[in-house]
Amino acid sequence: MILLAGGTGRLGTVLATRLTAQGVPVRVLTRDPARAGHLAGSGVQVVTGDVRDRASLPAAVSGAEVVVSAVHGFAGPGGVSPATVDYQGNVNLVDAARAGGADLVLMSAVGAAADSPMELFRMKHAAEQYLRASGVSWTIVRATAFLELWIEVLTRTAARSGRPVVFGAGDNPINFVSVTDVAALVEHALADPATRGRVLEIGGPADLTFNQLAAAIQAAAGRTSAPRHVRRPVLRVMAGTLGRVRPGLGRQLRAALIMDSADLGHDTLAVRQAYPGLPCTPLSACLRP
Ligand SMILES: NC(=O)c1ccc[n+]([C@@H]2O[C@H](COP(=O)([O-])OP(=O)(O)OC[C@H]3O[C@@H](n4cnc5c(N)ncnc54)[C@H](OP(=O)(O)O)[C@@H]3O)[C@@H](O)[C@H]2O)c1
Repeated sequence: MILLAGGTGRLGTVLATRLTAQGVPVRVLTRDPARAGHLAGSGVQVVTGDVRDRASLPAAVSGAEVVVSAVHGFAGPGGVSPATVDYQGNVNLVDAARAGGADLVLMSAVGAAADSPMELFRMKHAAEQYLRASGVSWTIVRATAFLELWIEVLTRTAARSGRPVVFGAGDNPINFVSVTDVAALVEHALADPATRGRVLEIGGPADLTFNQLAAAIQAAAGRTSAPRHVRRPVLRVMAGTLGRVRPGLGRQLRAALIMDSADLGHDTLAVRQAYPGLPCTPLSACLRP
């Protein structure tokens, strides 16, 4: 039995579907069982719990050989944050896994570090450190930005005007990876005990700027118009004003500024040489209707 915390999310859904299709028993942890409605019929068990609530976890972990943490609290709202979910929630999951005798596969991010400008990455790093020292048998999977998420964001913002919204100048190279590739690596980590005690980093086949991604989305939709840009000074003002009343939005705006300027390129060769069977999904495959 695999306990999949975050099993209702983008990555978790792909993973749950792949595992159940192979006959692997999967239990999905969610704060609201209605969010697992799309998994009905796939054979997953659904358990209600919240990684911030330690008391909800022992029953969820019971009988699981491996716990996968694919949760995050990046966008809020309210008490949902990187500190409460990505750090403390993962601490709670690690403790529950230890008590239940389960291994734990932690989803983290390429760039997770104590001195990262991004709070999410600092919290992911802190969770990694806690897991490594916990005595639980672990694998850490760090991924670059999920391609499908950003295609969805750009496509959604293009819905009204036909022009996607790019935050900042949009000319910073960023590595994007398909969730299909990440799910395949997590699946491998679940099955292969040799990955225990290892940090696996996965990225996509190429670095892309947001302007390039927006242009590809426009071309796939048969449009030629250029994206609209929210300039950096505007992002800074919005982060300082709106961000005070809506911390989740503030985090997203600050992250947009970082994504527009920080070094977010990645060379994915190492993991793909180590695991040659991993898919390497190109952008074109994710743009197909
Ligand atoms: N998105 C990216 O670009 C990216 C890049 C690198 C790494 N990652 C990591 O990959 C993992 C999956 O990301 P994703 O984009 O697929 O996530 P997602 O679609 O945004 O889904 C987030 C998941 O977290 C769960 N969750 C949030 N707060 C929770 C809480 N307090 N208790 C229990 N569950 C909670 C949600 O479950 P319910 O709402 O059902 O409770 C949901 O299933 C995360 O660990 C993320 O940090 C993501």
